[in-house]
This record gives sequence, structure tokens and C-alpha cells, in this order.
Amino acid sequence: SPSDPDLVARARAAKERLGDKVFVLGHHYQRDEVIQFADVTGDSFKLARDAAARPEAEYIVFCGVHFMAESADILTGDDQKVVLPDLAAGCSMADMATAEQVAECWDVLTEAGIAERVVPVSYMNSSADIKAFTGRHGGTICTSSNAERALQWAFEQGDKVLFLPDQHLGRNTAVRDLGMSLDDCVLYNPHKPGGGLTAQQLRDAKMILWRGHCSVHGRFSLESVEDVRARIPGVNVLVHPECRHEVVAAADQVGSTEYIIKALEAAPAGSKWAIGTELNLVRRLANRFAPEGKEIVFLDRTVCFCSTMNRIDLPHLVWALESLADGKLVNRIEVDRETERYAKLALERMLALP
Ligand code: 13P
Ligand code: SF4
Repeated sequence: SPSDPDLVARARAAKERLGDKVFVLGHHYQRDEVIQFADVTGDSFKLARDAAARPEAEYIVFCGVHFMAESADILTGDDQKVVLPDLAAGCSMADMATAEQVAECWDVLTEAGIAERVVPVSYMNSSADIKAFTGRHGGTICTSSNAERALQWAFEQGDKVLFLPDQHLGRNTAVRDLGMSLDDCVLYNPHKPGGGLTAQQLRDAKMILWRGHCSVHGRFSLESVEDVRARIPGVNVLVHPECRHEVVAAADQVGSTEYIIKALEAAPAGSKWAIGTELNLVRRLANRFAPEGKEIVFLDRTVCFCSTMNRIDLPHLVWALESLADGKLVNRIEVDRETERYAKLALERMLALP
């Protein structure tokens, strides 16, 4: 998208005024007009790891969504302030697991007599409350780039995993990477009493998957994969693991946003790719690699942007940077101490995974 030259100049000037006091992080799904101002770009794992890279920065401006900004606050110093340029930039998947629902689920597992054998593994795309629940019950956080190692670790601690909140990442990792069968997985529906499962089903399952999903990635279908293969002979289909199981099973490669970028960097000239992830990133990659003769298309033209990622636009970024440069702290994301303590435990378990 063309950036307004006046706003670009204002963002540049405000960033210059702030100097080392500000550190701007940008997720790969951000708009071009915003990502150009990021000091570091990455997938959710890289951004969590790098959030603490500049302890001297008073402000961390997070161009991404709410759960990422919360994680940055948890992992950075108490005197560092994390700012989200638009507070409405949430994540519909993260909203699919609330603290009350997860506490109720734990009661259900306790009644079924299995809670002490269950290790929670929560996707980064969850609220700080869910991360704290995970830490309190001996579990770990994972992202799409380390879900396999997180699950392996969890199965060394217990014999069952409660995977929150993305059923697809949980199922795809269990089946594709750990060699489990679909029958080893059950789906816990937080809107039904007992999760819609019998105690026997819970006792038999290895993976208890929370019924959450990403509304963007959930729209890629097996048909999208078949169509693109028919349209572009020799195409490599590369999708994000938040896609549905049948899509992942039909793809050639699966990985996080950072993985997708690395795979395309390493791809030979003349290769053809259909990418199943958010549109801002796919467009940027198509433009970047076209001069090298790599043909990159969007896996399904009916799937659109992540609307909440897109809420961070240049006007919001300019407003945030100018406010901070004027000494006005706006849109701070701050996790309370008690939540932070346990959420940090779970995040640190992830960062320590081999
Ligand atoms: P990555 O960790 O792969 O960047 O994914 C984050 C995300 O929100 C995908 O929808
Ligand atoms: Fe959440 Fe999906 Fe958007 Fe990622 S793409 S931030 S999972 S809604």
C-alpha cells in the first residue's frame, strides 16, 4: 500500500527524536507502511526472544497484536514500557480461550481423574492469563516454530497434553511431527458441559485439543491446494501450521512466518510457490522475489488480511511515536505482577527448550 509521504516523514522524525529510547518490533503480517519502521522483524518466537534485546530502550513499540505486546511486557524489564499503537489490535484466536473457561476445563480433567497427568501447552496466541495458567500447572508456551519440541518436552513430563487454544497447530504437530494418529486427539469444546466429552474419552486421549482456530488460516481449504496444483504445474505449496489438517497434509512444506521467508530465500530461481498465510506477508514476498525469477502466489484469492494485524497502520504508528517523543505515554500494555510471574515461568520454559 502506498504510504502517505507526509506521514512517513513524521514517523521518521519522531523516531529520530526518540533515538535509543525507542525500540520498534514488527511482526511479518504488518503492513508495508508500518514494517519499514521496525528495528527488528520476526515471527512470534523471534519477537519474544528479541523483545529483551535492548534493555536501554525505555519504550518498546510493538507493531503486532495484543498477545505479542503482553509477552514483550512479561519478558522485558519493569522500567521498560510496551506500547501497542492501536489497542483494538487483538487476535480472535486468543479470545477463544478465557481464564474462566480454562479453569472450568481443568475442573473437568480433575473430575475425570487425569489432571495430574496432563501437561498444558499453550500457543503464544493466548492471553497472559492463559499463559499464567500454563505456568502454574507446569506447562510451557510454544509458537509455530517450536511446537514439535514443546510437545516432545511435555510428553516427557506427563502422558497427556492439553493444547490451547489452536486445535489445528496442536493436531498438525501431534500427527505430522510426533506421528500420533487422529484418534489420539479429542476436541474440547468450551461451550459444552464437560467440553462435550465423556470422562472415558478424556482418559483415552493423548492430546486434548482446545476448540480454537485462526479465522484467517481456517479459510484455506483442500480445494485451494488442489486448484493451485492444477493451475500451476510444479508448484510448491507452503502453508502455516494454523491451517486445517487436510490442508497441511496436502502441502509440500509447513512452517512459521519466519520459516516461510527462509524457504523462499533459499528457493532456486524459476521455482513456483503457493503460500498459505496472511496476505500482507505473501504480497511482500511476491514483490521481493519476483526480480529473482521466483513466482509466488497466494494460495487462495478469497482469503484476506488479518484484520486485527492491519489495525496498526501508519497514522496509528505516527500518533504513538509522536506522543512518546512529546513525553506522553500512550497505549501501554502492562500485565499485572501475579499474572506476569507465572506467565513468565511458562515463557521461559519455551525459551529454554533444546
Ligand atoms: P508466526 O509465529 O508464525 O509468526 O505466527 C503468528 C501468527 O499469529 C500466525 O497467525
Ligand atoms: Fe490471530 Fe490469525 Fe491474526 Fe494470527 S492471523 S493474529 S492467529 S487472527
